[in-house]
Amino acid sequence: MVSLNINGKETHIDVPADMPLLWALRDVANLTGTKFGCGMGLCGACTVHLDGAAIRSCITPISAATGKKITTIEGIDVDHASHVGQAVQAAWRKLDVVQCGYCQSGQIMSAVSLLSQNKRPTDADIDQAMTGNICRCATYVRIRAAIHEAAKTLA
Ligand code: FES
Ligand code: FES
Repeated sequence: MVSLNINGKETHIDVPADMPLLWALRDVANLTGTKFGCGMGLCGACTVHLDGAAIRSCITPISAATGKKITTIEGIDVDHASHVGQAVQAAWRKLDVVQCGYCQSGQIMSAVSLLSQNKRPTDADIDQAMTGNICRCATYVRIRAAIHEAAKTLA
């Protein structure tokens, strides 16, 4: 039995400690907002936060997440960075960022992590922070604009 702090709640799950965190979140905790893309740390679809830092949950074993605060897209409004999460979601809606949507929870998690550390990111800061989040619909221009929009409301 493993105890994980997910979105502010202690959650006890019966899984091996070397299971990828993504599997536990989606298949055991039923938090399916976090997506499976490549399974190799290459696309960013599975991005969640560990203690506020964006990580790829498909290549992170559960053992690396125990004792840390895990935040998924479902918990972005209740996390420590909730005002940042709300600002990012509002900007995403205002600029109509989403196309098919598959990559977007990972995009939002990376954007919230960036803005939690840097309230006024430059284009270069954004490109660097978001470089590991792939969007097959190529919404990159709107994502960058929405991060700037969210930053304005956080200033
Ligand atoms: S599914 Fe984790 S990086 Fe692609
Ligand atoms: S919105 Fe379709 S993959 Fe990003």
